[in-house]
Amino acid sequence: MRIRDCVFFLCLILTQTLCFASELSSEALDNADYISGKTTFQQRCSACHTLAENSANLVGPNLWHIFDQTIGKVTGFSYSEGMKESELIWTPDLMANFLQDPQKLFPDTRMFIPEPVPANFMTDLVAFVMFETDAADKPKVEKPQPSQLVNSELPLSDRFPSFWNHLMTNTTHYRLVAAEGELEFDAYFNTNGSVGTSLKGVQGFWHVNEKDMFCYALYGLPTLIQEFVECFPVAAMAIPRFARELWRSEPQQGLKLYGGILPGRP
Ligand code: HEC
Repeated sequence: MRIRDCVFFLCLILTQTLCFASELSSEALDNADYISGKTTFQQRCSACHTLAENSANLVGPNLWHIFDQTIGKVTGFSYSEGMKESELIWTPDLMANFLQDPQKLFPDTRMFIPEPVPANFMTDLVAFVMFETDAADKPKVEKPQPSQLVNSELPLSDRFPSFWNHLMTNTTHYRLVAAEGELEFDAYFNTNGSVGTSLKGVQGFWHVNEKDMFCYALYGLPTLIQEFVECFPVAAMAIPRFARELWRSEPQQGLKLYGGILPGRP
């Protein structure tokens, strides 16, 4: 019996899940739905990962050229031991298995997702990541022209309902750290584009631009820095999460901003 056949039988004998848990045929990847993959990525991955060449590492590493590359080797990113030591190479199937249950593949991984990627979104998601990261054998999915994306006509509340409900009904908590001290306060984003806060005289406004970046400005702050502006992708807020500190940024030199979402409003 040749080695390949041995491996095949071993797989059958072991468990099906180990070897055949997820098989994405190249035909299925070629015919994947770009929009569905993009939406899934925006809702479930983009808060922590960028895809484009030379983009930043966020909470998770940048994924440019991730396929056919050894796991855990993106420069400048500090991985858990399991990923750092791994010698496996990313394939579409391995990624699909990983996204079903990251901790099963790498027990110590620091990638925590609120729920596994549902099986019916997996092919579209993996094909989208391959397409956008210029995988060697890139799927031939059809990328629609911007003009075909008519849903940008719809109001934000319909296009991003979970983002909308999350931000407009809950409290955003801030901790600003500047050279002269710290300032903590709550902000309330309103559906009419205004922002109120728990501090007297501090207020602001928000706006979503044509690239679906959510930008807001706050002014009247009683610190050296009296105002700041910040933008992030709307989709990054698509899966509601609550914590005092969920993101960290530096809207201006010398100003560190810690933001989080608390349930409800006073
Ligand atoms: C909450 C943040 C977070 C989310 C959401 C998230 N990841 Fe990750 N991801 C990480 C972190 C952190 C690591 C590094 C894990 C480690 O070191 O153990 C990682 C690692 C990875 C890796 C391995 C990269 C490498 O260099 O080998 C891939 C691939 C990956 N994520 C894909 C995804 C995809 C696709 C999604 C969406 C379904 C996703 N991640 C969602 C944080 C996240």
